[in-house]
Amino acid sequence: METNQTLRLLIVCFLLHSLTSISSSSTKNIITDKDALLALKAHITHDLDTLLAKNWSMSTSVCNWIGVICGVRHHRVMTLNISYLGLTKTIPPQLGNLSFLALLAINDNNFYGSLPYKLAHLRRLKYINFNYNQLSGNVPSSIFNISSLQELRLKHNRLSSILVNVSGGGPNLMSLDFSENSLEGEIPSFVSECKQLRFLNLSSNNFRGSIPKEISNLTKLKTLAIGDNKLEGEIPKELGNLVELERLLILDNVLLTGQIPSLLFNVSSLWLINFTNNNLTGGLPHNMCSHHHQAAVLKFLLLFENQITGTIPYDLWQCRELTIVSLSYNQFRGRIPRNIGNLTKLEVLYIGGNNIIGRYLIESINNIR
Ligand SMILES: *[C@@H]1O[C@H](CO)[C@@H](O)[C@H](O)[C@H]1NC(C)=O
Ligand SMILES: *[C@@H]1O[C@H](CO)[C@@H](O)[C@H](O)[C@H]1NC(C)=O
Ligand SMILES: *[C@@H]1O[C@H](CO)[C@@H](O)[C@H](O)[C@H]1NC(C)=O
Ligand SMILES: *[C@@H]1O[C@H](CO)[C@@H](O)[C@H](O)[C@H]1NC(C)=O
Ligand SMILES: *[C@@H]1O[C@H](CO)[C@@H](O)[C@H](O)[C@H]1NC(C)=O
Ligand SMILES: *[C@@H]1O[C@H](CO)[C@@H](O)[C@H](O)[C@H]1NC(C)=O
Ligand SMILES: *[C@@H]1O[C@H](CO)[C@@H](O)[C@H](O)[C@H]1NC(C)=O
Ligand SMILES: *[C@@H]1O[C@H](CO)[C@@H](O)[C@H](O)[C@H]1NC(C)=O
Ligand SMILES: *[C@@H]1O[C@H](CO)[C@@H](O)[C@H](O)[C@H]1NC(C)=O
Ligand SMILES: *[C@@H]1O[C@H](CO)[C@@H](O)[C@H](O)[C@H]1NC(C)=O
Ligand SMILES: *[C@@H]1O[C@H](CO)[C@@H](O)[C@H](O)[C@H]1NC(C)=O
Repeated sequence: METNQTLRLLIVCFLLHSLTSISSSSTKNIITDKDALLALKAHITHDLDTLLAKNWSMSTSVCNWIGVICGVRHHRVMTLNISYLGLTKTIPPQLGNLSFLALLAINDNNFYGSLPYKLAHLRRLKYINFNYNQLSGNVPSSIFNISSLQELRLKHNRLSSILVNVSGGGPNLMSLDFSENSLEGEIPSFVSECKQLRFLNLSSNNFRGSIPKEISNLTKLKTLAIGDNKLEGEIPKELGNLVELERLLILDNVLLTGQIPSLLFNVSSLWLINFTNNNLTGGLPHNMCSHHHQAAVLKFLLLFENQITGTIPYDLWQCRELTIVSLSYNQFRGRIPRNIGNLTKLEVLYIGGNNIIGRYLIESINNIR
């Protein structure tokens, strides 16, 4: 009798258990989303104005909560934007249950702790913005496995390394910002597998080693910023293959040596070169602005504080868009090129701290507005 009852109880328990596990694992719905957001709310200890505490109320639909937008058709959370709310706490793994989420912005708060790898469950995510928080630890490789992801912003956190264990990189990643963290090691090679990248900022970290020439595989890249690291070696000439490149910022890497590859001046879209404060040597190519090269749109040429030698290229005047040229504190010698006054858009020309003779300086400057 007793054993029979126990058996029945067990069966009931088993059935109940199966039912609940079915509902929690396979059928996610708006209740799942609500639970995930409540987990987030519970994780928040410090909430300026206690905005979420009041607004994210049990009595109203999740879809009316501040920062939340639901899809019209499927009625699931699509957007979560809780930026600039002064929130302090960790990111709960339950966020990985918001399976319809396309946009996640928690930037400009005080979130700390690590990035949960369960974020990779969000197969529809296109945009992640975690800028200006205090997240630390590793960037989990699983994030780069979200094939829908187009933009990942992690600027100004305390991240120390990028774990990459997926092949292929984010296939649709167009914009990647890791600047102002404490990332160590070499620039990870997976970056050059993110073939759709347009924007890459790795500035202000502790990256070491050389600049990987494989970055030149990112043929759609428009902005490359890798300044303020501990990079060494030379600027790879392969970067001259980046035919869409517009801005190249490689500054404050005092161990970076060698000549500026002349191929760079062949990139016809490049308008900003900022190589300030490295240890670059060699001369500038004397045909850098000539017609067969195409530095037609170059506006900013900033080479302040390097060890560049030789004379200022004679054909500089053919880079017609030049607006700010800084050659100060190098080892240039000789004359200012005669036709520099043909640069009608030139606003500033810094040449101090070199061995330049100013023979044509006055007549040139008369032409500069
Ligand atoms: C929460 O904020 C939203 C957007 O500002 C507002 O429409 C809604 O009425 C608020 N809900 C509560 C319960 O305060
Ligand atoms: C998130 O909200 C903030 C403030 O409400 C707004 O400035 C920002 O543009 C939004 N972010 C996105 C990605 O929509
Ligand atoms: C939500 O996520 C948590 C932690 O990742 C998990 O344990 C739980 O089963 C999930 N809940 C649902 C309803 O899917
Ligand atoms: C990447 O995603 C695929 C499915 O899209 C999955 O099989 C694989 O385990 C994931 N890898 C990592 C490291 O998350
Ligand atoms: C990386 O992948 C290998 C197999 O490809 C596996 O043995 C290893 O545990 C993974 N490491 C991490 C940190 O996921
Ligand atoms: C890259 O990040 C650095 C450091 O935050 C910043 O100063 C710089 O403006 C960024 N570059 C671009 C092109 O956005
Ligand atoms: C990537 O770049 C390297 C060096 O520039 C080159 O040898 C390699 O073939 C490229 N790989 C792909 C897949 O384009
Ligand atoms: C810069 O390079 C020169 C040699 O070209 C070397 O003597 C000097 O130590 C380097 N400076 C730094 C800061 O590494
Ligand atoms: C520079 O570009 C032009 C036109 O795209 C090309 O014909 C020329 O070979 C390139 N020069 C070098 C040194 O690659
Ligand atoms: C170039 O880099 C220097 C040194 O970090 C910085 O002061 C300057 O603002 C930068 N200029 C541009 C236009 O990027
Ligand atoms: C360049 O400037 C010189 C005078 O410095 C002038 O004689 C010459 O015609 C100008 N050339 C062009 C193409 O503007």
